[in-house]
Amino acid sequence: MRELEQNIEKVLITQEQIAAKVKELAAEMDAFYQDKEVLLICILKGSVTFFSDLTRVVSFPVMYDFMCVSSYGNSTVSGGSVRILKDVSVDIAGKHVLVVEDILDTGNTLTALFAQLEARNPASLKLCCFLDKPDRRTKPIEADFTGFQIPDEFVVGYGLDYDEQYRQLPYVGVLKRSVYEK
Ligand code: PRP
Repeated sequence: MRELEQNIEKVLITQEQIAAKVKELAAEMDAFYQDKEVLLICILKGSVTFFSDLTRVVSFPVMYDFMCVSSYGNSTVSGGSVRILKDVSVDIAGKHVLVVEDILDTGNTLTALFAQLEARNPASLKLCCFLDKPDRRTKPIEADFTGFQIPDEFVVGYGLDYDEQYRQLPYVGVLKRSVYEK
């Protein structure tokens, strides 16, 4: 951990701020869903930490499921589709579905994923994103529940990675440029 922490420029969101925000989001969701049963879909891997915190503070009954997706496209190719590496294990038709993500960035991944999920006819389909980088958006998509809006900086921790590392940090930190520019 100490070695990882040496590569953090600054802490952007502390553990305490995260805990308070998770409770706030849960209260918003409680008010929205009331006692409805909701299928929470955790999008692997980045949202695992947020998902496990969130599920423990909401009051409505939840079922868990997991998806792993990979966005096609890069800066020169429009990311219009998404490859499903691991799909949910149930039919979502008629269910209240809440997708839980760690970060909404360009919006490519979630726009494509939502098109596929909508086609399966859920009773409702909503999006919760722990972090939102509005400056990076190229698709007109917004989360229904948002934790923090953040500037366009390279953030890691609380599930978010750089080269599969740093996910275990309990806070969100800005990675030193020297780490990813070397
Ligand atoms: C992140 C995040 C979203 C996507 C958002 O996943 O979890 O799925 O990128 O980016 P976009 O808005 O520009 O499409 P990532 O590919 O880093 O995978 P991970 O969750 O396994 O770390």
